[in-house]
Amino acid sequence: MRTSIIVANWKMNGTKLAVQEWLHTMTGQLSGLSATEKTTREWVFCPPSVYLDLASTLIKMPGLHEPLSLGAQNCHTAVKGAFTGEISANMLVDLGCRYVLVGHSERRQLFRENNQIVAEKVGAAQQAGLIPILCVGETAEERQANHTQAVIAAQLEAVLNHCESKTKIVIAYEPLWAIGTGLTAMPEQAQTVHQGIREWLRKNASEAVSSSLHLLYGGSVNPKNALGLLLQPDIDGLLVGGASLKASDFIEIGQAVSVV
Ligand code: PGA
Repeated sequence: MRTSIIVANWKMNGTKLAVQEWLHTMTGQLSGLSATEKTTREWVFCPPSVYLDLASTLIKMPGLHEPLSLGAQNCHTAVKGAFTGEISANMLVDLGCRYVLVGHSERRQLFRENNQIVAEKVGAAQQAGLIPILCVGETAEERQANHTQAVIAAQLEAVLNHCESKTKIVIAYEPLWAIGTGLTAMPEQAQTVHQGIREWLRKNASEAVSSSLHLLYGGSVNPKNALGLLLQPDIDGLLVGGASLKASDFIEIGQAVSVV
């Protein structure tokens, strides 16, 4: 059975104090979880990169860590070099990161990252030992034109067919029309796309890859709609933006489905 992964993507929000307070609330709640809850659900915190070191130090404090992991929001394709302002995957590992978001639609749209750059970033992350969370998704126009599965297949093909490992990766389906808009995909709509992704993986990787990879949904997830999404058979977790800034909401989202 696949475990679930609940990711907080803070984007360019927060302060040192907010990180401290958020982690204090999170770790207080998580330390009270049952052993089963700790092993079946992983929580990932992706703060802005300038706060990763602080978060890493706080997460490592005795009794606070499990099951909270650290993730970055971006990394560069190169290992090191003259890339002013950039951060390499190795540096993220050095800071204690386990995950890195790659190919988020905001990076694709606002920073012109194309499939090739995304594929190189996935490769760089995997080589450094990070697990990339590869984001894919269609625009409203592409959905209206009935191109959703084709767009996602092209995004998967451009990246997965070129990366080193098809197992050390998490895929997040984030329809662009749902990100930060308050419009969430209906659980059934999301499930249909997730099922399509598993089908693609079955054909292009293997049955084992298809059934073992974690597929997350992201796009205006909140405490009210989390349950319906998490109940879908092919949705293994959530990538949460705006609603992750408040620790109590984020915890409510992740715990929408109770673990016995
Ligand atoms: P949102 O963002 O939850 O604010 O829509 C999700 C994301 O962009 O990862």
